Amino acid sequence: MTQLISDAESVRLLHDLEPVVAGELDRHLASTRDWYPHEYVPWSEGRTYDGLLGGDAWSPEDSTLSDVDRTALVVNLLTEDNLPSYHFEIATHFGRDGAWGTWVHRWTAEEDRHGTVLRDYLTVTRAVDPVALENARMVHMSVGFRKPHETMLHSLAYVSFQELATRISHRNTGVASNEPICEQMLSRVAADENLHMIFYRNLLAAAFQLEPSLTMRAVSEVVQDFQMPGHTIQDFTRKSVQIANAGIYDLRLHKDQVLVPVLRQWQVWDLEGLDPEGEKARLELEQHLAELEAAAVRFEERRAARAARAAERG
Ligand SMILES: [Fe+2]
Ligand SMILES: [Fe+2]
Repeated sequence: MTQLISDAESVRLLHDLEPVVAGELDRHLASTRDWYPHEYVPWSEGRTYDGLLGGDAWSPEDSTLSDVDRTALVVNLLTEDNLPSYHFEIATHFGRDGAWGTWVHRWTAEEDRHGTVLRDYLTVTRAVDPVALENARMVHMSVGFRKPHETMLHSLAYVSFQELATRISHRNTGVASNEPICEQMLSRVAADENLHMIFYRNLLAAAFQLEPSLTMRAVSEVVQDFQMPGHTIQDFTRKSVQIANAGIYDLRLHKDQVLVPVLRQWQVWDLEGLDPEGEKARLELEQHLAELEAAAVRFEERRAARAARAAERG
């Protein structure tokens, strides 16, 4: 793939976007409110585990959560766990100085709450096997995380979609759990992800004004090879199919509730003044969405057929 923008252009864009970052940061700080992970965890339900302190070994009967609920919770937590890699990615692309740096650190501090509250909740309620969880965390974090593209515009586009994707995934995992405390905790986390999405989405809207064609190319490329931030989790394909079959996060949600609304906010379909490369990128984006729609319909049909067969078997 050809380099979309030079390092010098990236530096200029970072500089030109700085006042927008400062404004968005003020807006973010005014609309967010502090919350405390410990308040979302039913500590009195906790019991000592076996091992060093000689408590009770974990067993699947310890919690009423279904297998798919457990899978979704573990995927969401492992995704949050890779925060050091995400911090590295955004600090590399956005820098650690001025308003950009203030945002990078603030965002990292907010994200850290997500892993904390999820792990405390899962451990105290005995929702998942703590040994398997820790082993999975070690494997996942040892792989790290790298965004597939190298420029700050790609990075901005990726996080705009990724924050919304994680918002929906947390929210739907909470609802699926049928556990009021779990649902409350995950809606709290989802509310953070939503504010993060708005921050990045507004920044990219400003980038569209400054550099419409370059931004269109970055957005189109990111949408075309988008992967969830947790895609390097061991056995992710099987887990994501399980999550999709349960309707927690599937192609339909990805297209209709993540891609389409963000693209509409940027008014990508009405944007004028694109150069030939920008027009080509928009066309490819449109074609990709049509293919995604067809794939979503196929998946929904297969899922419905499987559900009908299962109902017949009783
Ligand atoms: Fe998060
Ligand atoms: Fe987030």
